[in-house]
Amino acid sequence: MSWKGLLMAGGNGSRLYPLTSSVNKHLLPIYDKPMIYYSLTTLMLAGIRDIVLVSTEEGAKQIGALLGDGSRFGVSLRYLVQPHADGIAQGLVVAADELAGHDVAMILGDNIFVGSGLEQILLTAKEENRGATVFSYEVANPQAYGILRFNAGKPVDILEKAAEPPSRLAITGLYFFDRTAIDIARTLKPSERGEYEITDVNKAYLRQGRLDVRSLGRGTAWIDGGTPGDLFQIAQFVHVMETRTGLKIAVPEEIALRRGFIDRTLLANAIRDYPHSEYRDYLETVINTA
Ligand code: G1P
Repeated sequence: MSWKGLLMAGGNGSRLYPLTSSVNKHLLPIYDKPMIYYSLTTLMLAGIRDIVLVSTEEGAKQIGALLGDGSRFGVSLRYLVQPHADGIAQGLVVAADELAGHDVAMILGDNIFVGSGLEQILLTAKEENRGATVFSYEVANPQAYGILRFNAGKPVDILEKAAEPPSRLAITGLYFFDRTAIDIARTLKPSERGEYEITDVNKAYLRQGRLDVRSLGRGTAWIDGGTPGDLFQIAQFVHVMETRTGLKIAVPEEIALRRGFIDRTLLANAIRDYPHSEYRDYLETVINTA
């Protein structure tokens, strides 16, 4: 069964006002590249090349101007519009025609995953998925997330933004679903906050006994970029990692080359159009050393 990616890049970004008053949240900088590069490359590391991106009408235009059809990254990108910010799960319904009959790797465009073991974790989880697979991460502020409740070591419930969270294990914004996710999403009712909740999709799999929870350990960093403080924190993290090693994180061209999605000639041609910049210099080094 072939996989498709679903990259959710809509929303109003209201918590980031005024940064988001004229720019889609997913285009804001995380140090040296737009936020969306991080989620896009997470899908690419999972071996996903056929991607549907869901955003607002204006967001789809802006993101389209940056990423185009994805060919320079060796992926196929199509853009669909979610007219209102009615919740993440609605993305599955908006993209239903494109996704029908496929397994789906869904990622939230503001979720940033970094870690050396990540690629292998994702590839294995994808291979072993028998329903839905989610990735948990221990956080200090569980009230902000979908949180797992355990009984005798087994996940038994997920609570969205609970005032008194039953654990500190958050469900991150990356979900592997089999093809039944679309039908599940179609049956959902809006939550109290008026949104179609991705947590309700996961809970449906949990009730069916088909939800696999894999924990991302300390070797992985996960942050979601909801507030100005989050953005600042992630940017610092990326800056520290990149300046220490001289290697950049989340560069789609580099990942495409290393994974064989594109060859050196294609990359060399693509970057000829890039302005002289640190980013272009980096890619020249990548071409010469790959
Ligand atoms: C969403 C999900 C939540 C998840 C989080 C991860 O929250 O509803 O379960 O833990 O993404 O980023 P939201 O971004 O809508 O607040």
